[in-house]
Amino acid sequence: MNDNIICLCYSRTGKTRRVMTEIAAALDCELVLLRDGVNRQGALGALRSGLDAMRKHTRPISRPVMRRALSDYELVILGTPVWAGRCSSVARALLKRRGYEMQSVAYVITHRSEEQYREVFDQMDKYLLSPHVAEASLCPGATGCAFWRDQFLKAVAERTGVTLRPVADEDAKAGD
Ligand SMILES: Cc1cc2nc3c(=O)[nH]c(=O)nc-3n(C[C@H](O)[C@H](O)[C@H](O)COP(=O)(O)O)c2cc1C
Repeated sequence: MNDNIICLCYSRTGKTRRVMTEIAAALDCELVLLRDGVNRQGALGALRSGLDAMRKHTRPISRPVMRRALSDYELVILGTPVWAGRCSSVARALLKRRGYEMQSVAYVITHRSEEQYREVFDQMDKYLLSPHVAEASLCPGATGCAFWRDQFLKAVAERTGVTLRPVADEDAKAGD
């Protein structure tokens, strides 16, 4: 297992989780799921999530259980869905409280539309000491999703010297 990289991920309906599982498998690194203890299930949960994102409102997240201290990882890969053109409030909560602890960060965002949400990366960078080093803006299930995931993996491999493991191509099937 590659102990210098960690994947941290929030996923409400499973799509980001699925992509991040593939990324963690390709990099042979830990994947830890983030939670903020808020019920975000169903239509009401989606509405709450959208409002939280628009207001940039965050709640404390449960402390992720990791093998090492967050600051010890050479690279943190943070995965989040896009909510109302922003990162999820759960990812924002992590960045707000612990962004300064991360040596270097790469982002994986997922969204329903095929738009590239590049502005989301800039919003997230505001919580870091230095800008992110790699990014992927993915529309799960769309043509090209696996290609852009693989481009992201290559960028991470070049940066870290990790040898990639083969990834099974599976479209995200979870619904919103
Ligand atoms: C509250 C809310 C707001 C969303 N806003 C957007 C958006 O602005 N643009 C978009 O393309 N998708 C948007 N989506 C769709 C999700 O980003 C997309 O389905 C994502 O891949 C879900 O990831 P998950 O299954 O990991 O939760 C939104 C979904 C929710 C629940």
